[in-house]
Amino acid sequence: MTDQASTNPLRVEAQHVGLFETPIAYCRLKDGESLIQELETSIHKNRAEAGGLQRSNIGGWHSDTDMMAWGGEAAKRLSEAAINIAKRLSHFQEASPDVYDWQLRMWANVTPRGGLNQPHAHPGNLWAAVLYLDMGDELESDEDIGGAFYVEDPRFPMAAMHNTAVRMIGVDGKPQQYEVEFKLERGKIVVFPAWLRHGVRPYSGKRERISIAMNIDARRK
Ligand SMILES: [Fe+2]
Repeated sequence: MTDQASTNPLRVEAQHVGLFETPIAYCRLKDGESLIQELETSIHKNRAEAGGLQRSNIGGWHSDTDMMAWGGEAAKRLSEAAINIAKRLSHFQEASPDVYDWQLRMWANVTPRGGLNQPHAHPGNLWAAVLYLDMGDELESDEDIGGAFYVEDPRFPMAAMHNTAVRMIGVDGKPQQYEVEFKLERGKIVVFPAWLRHGVRPYSGKRERISIAMNIDARRK
């Protein structure tokens, strides 16, 4: 007698559904060169005059989180752009996003050779954002100078608890990774949920890197 199950496998019609997305806005400032230069000038001035903070950064300089007070018109324009992106990513069941009081805190990061940011989240906020101003060394061919900005799968380590080599296949048919790096350059902005853990890998270039980070929150007026 033959085994029916192995000679005639059960046919199944399957639908691959992905749920619970992590929305991330990967943006580029258009015609932003003069704005970027104004921001850089403010950052260099503040760095020369004021102290800094120690947060997720290892090495480098982290300004106070009040760049809106010392960043001039350029910081104000940047904050408006970031809040507009956050509004487009947000839905409130009972009201329009415009009914909320959108608040933003901004600070600057200057990262020298060997600097990095440990993985962390930004509790107490809806959205977090980063704008890269100066990438430091120019990349030549395949040279790897580190410093990649990455985000962690917020579901980690659920699947890997069984086997660290396992990757779930996404709706795009590709294995989903536990960490994803972003290709960033001068003028690129990433806006992501503030609960999403992220970090910056050790940077090994010679010139300092400069970026601006933002926390965005919405409170009922
Ligand atoms: Fe961060």
